[in-house]
Amino acid sequence: MKIAIYGANGYQGRLVLAEATRRGLDVVLVGRDGTRLRGAATAAGLSDADVRPAALDGRDALVAAFREADAVINCAGPFTPTGAAVVRAAIAAGRHYVDTAGEQPYIKEVFDTFGAEAEAAGVTVVPAANDACVPGDLIAGLLAERLGPLEEIAGTHVITGGGGPSRGSLRSVIESMDIIKAGGLVYDDGDWHVGLPARHTSIVLPGGSAAIPVAKFPLPEVVTIPRHVQVRHVEGLVEAALSARLSIPIDPEIIAGLPEGPTEEARRTQRFTYVIDAVAADGRRARGVVEGPDTYGTTAVIAVESARRLVTDPAKPGVLAPAQAYDPVGFLGSLLPHGIRWTIEEGMSGS
Ligand SMILES: NC(=O)c1ccc[n+]([C@@H]2O[C@H](COP(=O)([O-])OP(=O)(O)OC[C@H]3O[C@@H](n4cnc5c(N)ncnc54)[C@H](OP(=O)(O)O)[C@@H]3O)[C@@H](O)[C@H]2O)c1
Repeated sequence: MKIAIYGANGYQGRLVLAEATRRGLDVVLVGRDGTRLRGAATAAGLSDADVRPAALDGRDALVAAFREADAVINCAGPFTPTGAAVVRAAIAAGRHYVDTAGEQPYIKEVFDTFGAEAEAAGVTVVPAANDACVPGDLIAGLLAERLGPLEEIAGTHVITGGGGPSRGSLRSVIESMDIIKAGGLVYDDGDWHVGLPARHTSIVLPGGSAAIPVAKFPLPEVVTIPRHVQVRHVEGLVEAALSARLSIPIDPEIIAGLPEGPTEEARRTQRFTYVIDAVAADGRRARGVVEGPDTYGTTAVIAVESARRLVTDPAKPGVLAPAQAYDPVGFLGSLLPHGIRWTIEEGMSGS
């Protein structure tokens, strides 16, 4: 199997490249700068790798590069200004597409814009194949199977350690500043809204005793979950301190002077806990939890697994949420060897 990685020379792209290679997959490195792509290939021990320079406005070169592969993983962010061109080229090439995006408005735009085009081309598009959205969305599907129609889903992300975000993540934060300041989209009564207040302001984490303050945040799962779960209200939350920190714009020049991303050693110290609290229409409750190390390393594992599954076990064409594209238990089980564990408990209430 051959995977085209767009933005293969970036911080996340190189981790995806390493993960694809570790699994014995062939790769095509695609991006706007041939020299930087070649450098990434050489650093990964792939000096003979297929390198295809293709800028976003070079549609023919992009399509030709993607035709060399069975599926495309797009790691080039910020996605808001760049992602649509890559999705369009993957569809034109007839190749399944996933990306590592976390930018909520971009992810919604992919669903709103490309559904019919992807269906007509027989291509499956799964945006936000990252550490958080895939497990959160899959677990939301499992919670709905147990509880039936839902009144509410609240997704909460808590991350400790890890050495901070990559430059690319910080640039994506700048690109999403308006929606971050607004607290993100909230799904309510059949549509997504900006400006609705969060229902929750605190959460008790698994194994914790005290409630910690949380605030509304534009999590990708808020866009994907209502596509397959019958639910009246979905909101995304992060620790209030993190939300406040990310709401202060950082000067792009300061970002340019920062390290490219956390070191491998720092990534090893990182732990994430993603909690999905569901309340059924009849008041019953259940909590899904996914916990693991190293958000960037986990994103690489999940993006490669997402693309691989679209090739070996095709889903229906169109733009799909993770739970529409993958068998939830099978996918979540594949993450266990990478230290990513998930649980579902009924009768739990986090706040
Ligand atoms: N959970 C999550 O939500 C999650 C997790 C992981 C990563 N991500 C996202 O992944 C993205 C990548 O992060 P990163 O740390 O890898 O960033 P990075 O190191 O800055 O790499 C960005 C990559 O995108 C390419 N790129 C940027 N603008 C481009 C343009 N206009 N045309 C063509 N290529 C362009 C860059 O190419 P050049 O080198 O040629 O500039 C580079 O290959 C970010 O958006 C980040 O938020 C999200």
